[in-house]
Amino acid sequence: MMRLALLATLCSVIAAVAIVVAAAPASPVSPAAPSASASAFASASASAPDAATPQYLIGAGIYDITGPIVDVNFMGYAAPAQTGRGLHFRQYARTLIVQDPTTGKRVIYVSADACMATQIMRLQVSQKLAAVLPDYEEASLCISGIHTHSTPAGFFQYVLFQITSLGFVKETLDAYVDGIVASIVQAHGNLQPGNLFVNQGELVGANINRSPSAYLNNPAAERAKYQYDTDTNMVLLKAVDANNNDLAMFNWFAVHCTSMNNTNRLVSGDNKGHASYLFEKQMNGKATLPGKGKFVAAFAQTNSGDVSPNTAGAFCISGKDAGKPCDFYTSLCDGRSEPCVGFGPGKDMTDSTRIIAEKQLATAQALYANASTLVQGAIDYRHVYLDITNLTVNYNNRSGQTCPPAMGYAFAAGTTDGAGAFNFYQGENSSNPFWNVVSGFLSKPSSEQIACHAPKPILLNTGYLNKPYAWQASIVDLQILRVGQIFIVAIPSEFTTMAGRRLRDAVKQALIEEGAIDQNGVVLISGLSNTYSDYVTTFEEYQVQRYEGGSTAYGPLTHDGYLQEFTKIARAMARNQPLPPGPNPPDMDDSAQFSFLPPVIEDAVPLGKKFGDVVTEPAASYSVGASVQAVFWSGCPRNDLYTNESYLTVEQQQADGSFAVVLTDADWDTVLEWKRTFTESPESHATVVWNIAAGTAPGVYRIRHFGAHKNILELGKITRYSGTSRTFVVTA
Ligand SMILES: *[C@@H]1O[C@H](CO)[C@@H](O)[C@H](O)[C@H]1NC(C)=O
Ligand SMILES: *[C@@H]1O[C@H](CO)[C@@H](O)[C@H](O)[C@H]1NC(C)=O
Ligand SMILES: *[C@@H]1O[C@H](CO)[C@@H](O)[C@H](O)[C@H]1NC(C)=O
Ligand SMILES: *[C@@H]1O[C@H](CO)[C@@H](O)[C@H](O)[C@H]1NC(C)=O
Ligand SMILES: *[C@@H]1O[C@H](CO)[C@@H](O)[C@H](O)[C@H]1NC(C)=O
Ligand SMILES: *[C@@H]1O[C@H](CO)[C@@H](O)[C@H](O)[C@H]1NC(C)=O
Repeated sequence: MMRLALLATLCSVIAAVAIVVAAAPASPVSPAAPSASASAFASASASAPDAATPQYLIGAGIYDITGPIVDVNFMGYAAPAQTGRGLHFRQYARTLIVQDPTTGKRVIYVSADACMATQIMRLQVSQKLAAVLPDYEEASLCISGIHTHSTPAGFFQYVLFQITSLGFVKETLDAYVDGIVASIVQAHGNLQPGNLFVNQGELVGANINRSPSAYLNNPAAERAKYQYDTDTNMVLLKAVDANNNDLAMFNWFAVHCTSMNNTNRLVSGDNKGHASYLFEKQMNGKATLPGKGKFVAAFAQTNSGDVSPNTAGAFCISGKDAGKPCDFYTSLCDGRSEPCVGFGPGKDMTDSTRIIAEKQLATAQALYANASTLVQGAIDYRHVYLDITNLTVNYNNRSGQTCPPAMGYAFAAGTTDGAGAFNFYQGENSSNPFWNVVSGFLSKPSSEQIACHAPKPILLNTGYLNKPYAWQASIVDLQILRVGQIFIVAIPSEFTTMAGRRLRDAVKQALIEEGAIDQNGVVLISGLSNTYSDYVTTFEEYQVQRYEGGSTAYGPLTHDGYLQEFTKIARAMARNQPLPPGPNPPDMDDSAQFSFLPPVIEDAVPLGKKFGDVVTEPAASYSVGASVQAVFWSGCPRNDLYTNESYLTVEQQQADGSFAVVLTDADWDTVLEWKRTFTESPESHATVVWNIAAGTAPGVYRIRHFGAHKNILELGKITRYSGTSRTFVVTA
């Protein structure tokens, strides 16, 4: 007990005073080389296009990006208590590379099972990629996040998004960067002649607008053009090789990955991550373990700013309004935002995740089966950095400037998918050490800043907060990728439904005027791409100041400014003109970031026990539908992320007596929960849960757990271990 008490003290001392310089030793940044060696893969043929002739070189890749599954706050809800306690299923990066066989020009599109892409993430991916793929061009790389709110945080270089994660978390960023690079390298290695087909279709009933009162402020004539207040369109690309064999599927459909709510503590790709898993399982065969198959299926994010998967609507869960819908305009319940909770279609959040995933899956499967419109034409891309804090806007009959960023009061209130838990109202003293440091830097907005953001009342004057470093981005990424008649507009934020519709229409109109496409051209939005800079509403929605308006950081002309700049980029691309790259964003890898997340100190087991020993064995027998549990003495999962491996396996005994792995921790049917035996204890338990799905073959099974423990007496040496449960029988 003495030792435990000492460790507890050590932990809190570290939490209170350590300012960890998180920057890794800076590796030399080799500038992205121009695509000089286009001929490296260019095929000689350039015959007339038809469905049988491969139009492109196509490569798909998938790699594990799962970050630290415990201790770290989840990115999205900014709920301080929502730290990881285990793993439902792994996070992946899914990459599609499409290359013009004659010019060698290529685009690289990555959809990552993370809350969003970030600037530091893209910068580090670019730097690492330049070392392994020298003829790669940075401007051709787009990284988009699916927007799951159940994966680890801390992968930013701006203060605002790191308050609840206690600052920067190098473990998270490294897992994301290394895994994304590995997925690109794999896709690159898979490049082969092939074709893309595009299809589009409707999916109704998988999303609702969570701020309909703001949507209603858009002009009636504009709203009349649409049947719904969310986009119900899914755009899908089907990739096949020269012999028409399946290679990959990438689709875009607008829905927040907030089926899992802010009480979830298990890492999860939410509805889109699960839909990818199901599609890949079907294409690669049941025997192929998740993340290991050849076929890659990405359910990427688009303009989901005001779009919730919680289709049952928002209700008050407590207080005198309990059971009633929340207020239409304010989402309040008896004057408070916390009791207002959006509910999904399922019996609980996990069930809702499954339902919203299966709806997207079904639509994608139908569109994939029917996709027959050949994608053909040039590959091209434009990427610019834009200082969005003082842009002169002259667009849509509105003119003026954008503003240095500021967040409104509605931002702190949160949404019906997760009420505000940012704790901005509390006094200077908080239990959050990162907040205690940064709150001292709060700034009072000037009268110019107040006028610039009106009618948004300013809660956080982030544009004037540069201590300890910038709170929000000033410089954002704007990018368009072109694959034939498909134009992917990569936005550094979350556009609402109508904001996205106007952007697509404006870019398409510009491209038609320039003669680059006709009405059949496809302009789609890649959401949460490259940099994260909060929400973007239309000018009219901004006036209403719901959460999305309160979180539109650069003032009422933010959206018109983006329309103006993206149409410029589209026109330049259509005219084959280069664009100046714009100002360089910060690269905080070279500077210190603050990090207050305590490290793992050490792991221990009671006398007479070994790591991996079973604490609680499974029962002797289970029937399908039951839930198996095995508990092991364990080390902290942060010691070793088991990237491209697994913390657990479910193994079935074969005829020859050996065991074969049938499920891993990347499967939907398994869960890994991890807990210290008490707060600050070095002893911990890993609980493996297997929910035996219908269709599971009867037989003899066992459960194994894999981990690593840290030994303080050996200077923090990390050693792997494994444990195996007794066997048990599964009956039909
Ligand atoms: C989260 O979902 C669970 C059901 O899985 C529900 O009981 C709970 O009220 C929800 N909580 C919040 C804050 O959304
Ligand atoms: C697929 O094509 C079939 C036959 O043309 C049609 O009946 C069906 O509606 C199509 N489905 C989709 C999702 O486009
Ligand atoms: C924005 O730029 C204009 C000049 O174009 C300048 O007058 C104004 O002060 C700038 N505003 C801010 C907030 O920097
Ligand atoms: C701008 O104003 C002109 C003249 O009033 C009008 O014809 C046009 O439709 C307006 N454009 C937009 C995008 O509102
Ligand atoms: C906050 O902490 C300071 C010392 O760090 C103390 O002097 C002050 O009384 C505390 N304020 C509150 C409201 O607890
Ligand atoms: C990932 O694991 C598979 C086996 O499951 C292996 O073949 C592959 O080489 C691994 N990839 C990397 C980059 O280590």
